[in-house]
Amino acid sequence: MKNTIAVIKGDGIGPEIMDATLHVLDALGCGLEYEFVDAGLCALEAQGSLLPPETLDAISRHKVALKGPLTTPVGEGFSSINVELRKRFDLYANVRPAITFPGTKARYEDIDIITVRENTEGAYGAEGQVLSPDGQTAQSLIRVTRRGSERIVRYAFDLARSTGRKKVTVVHKANIMKTTSGLFLNVAREIAADYPEITCNEMIVDNTCMQLVMNPHQFDVIVTTNLFGDIISDLCAGLVGGLGLAPGANIGSDAAIFEAVHGSAPDIAGKGIANPCALLLGAGQMLDHLGLSGQAQRLRGAIRSVVEAKDRVTPDLGGTGSTRSFAEALAERVR
Ligand code: NAI
Ligand code: MG
Repeated sequence: MKNTIAVIKGDGIGPEIMDATLHVLDALGCGLEYEFVDAGLCALEAQGSLLPPETLDAISRHKVALKGPLTTPVGEGFSSINVELRKRFDLYANVRPAITFPGTKARYEDIDIITVRENTEGAYGAEGQVLSPDGQTAQSLIRVTRRGSERIVRYAFDLARSTGRKKVTVVHKANIMKTTSGLFLNVAREIAADYPEITCNEMIVDNTCMQLVMNPHQFDVIVTTNLFGDIISDLCAGLVGGLGLAPGANIGSDAAIFEAVHGSAPDIAGKGIANPCALLLGAGQMLDHLGLSGQAQRLRGAIRSVVEAKDRVTPDLGGTGSTRSFAEALAERVR
């Protein structure tokens, strides 16, 4: 049976890196079909909405979407489309692998860390953000639930189990935030007991940041709440050389959206030099999610060897190639 996925090319460099990504996926022979829908600035201009109903409908029907970066217009009345998608489809797990690729500006070799960030609650809820009428006091609510904590921690342990990983680090600040982070940590301890073959350790978030910089190889899977996960996953991307190779998956029980971590890069849009690898690695996560792990591994292997050989790669990876030449080099290797 053929899988159909919703494809959102997005804004800025989005169409360029998406075309490159689909070219490589086609060369891989995954038998995917695409339904193209719009979101972001391009959708606002063409259809008068940042997130048109057809787009939401396509994601609901296909349950899987590959998404280029979206530009959210700055100003009143526009809430982030990415946040909206997470809310709409209850995409509770934000899964961000950080892997070193030889031949890049990574700070360390052989890093392989997956951050699993709770994506729907914690400090990022819009409700509970209050500014007093005189503008002198701001308050925000941090909401952590047992259900939200259970499902994200379980997701992390299941991921560790299914991918043969050995360790999950629960990152928290329960020493100070005794109720919210405390609940998260207690739930994590309970869930960990169901996975005796996986080592569970606990680490306070500030120490985690230092440990990631000093001794990153001790980490395998990290699971944490929304705000800490946002920061830690960027720190991990920095360890492996920045945004050019950082993908992310947003996963819920009914739908999943795969993307690059970087944005629409307006400074280089239209120049044909954007690096397609982060989106391609997101596509690799998508193939794993669809049960096409053989193809996912072939894709990652091709990226590894093309990047290491600097074969037609883009300037950000030290090459003189274009988005298109990079995709061609990758397509040749995966065929
Ligand atoms: P950005 O990630 O678009 O760009 C930061 C820097 O990295 C720029 O110098 C850019 O040229 C470079 N860069 C990014 N991706 C690259 C690639 N694939 N190849 C080569 N160089 C690359 O972040 P910025 O400038 O803060 O945001 C631009 C727009 O993107 C904003 O409208 C923002 O809202 C949106 N954005 C969207 C995201 C999404 O849809 N997931 C995530 C982050 C930002
Ligand atoms: Mg972030």
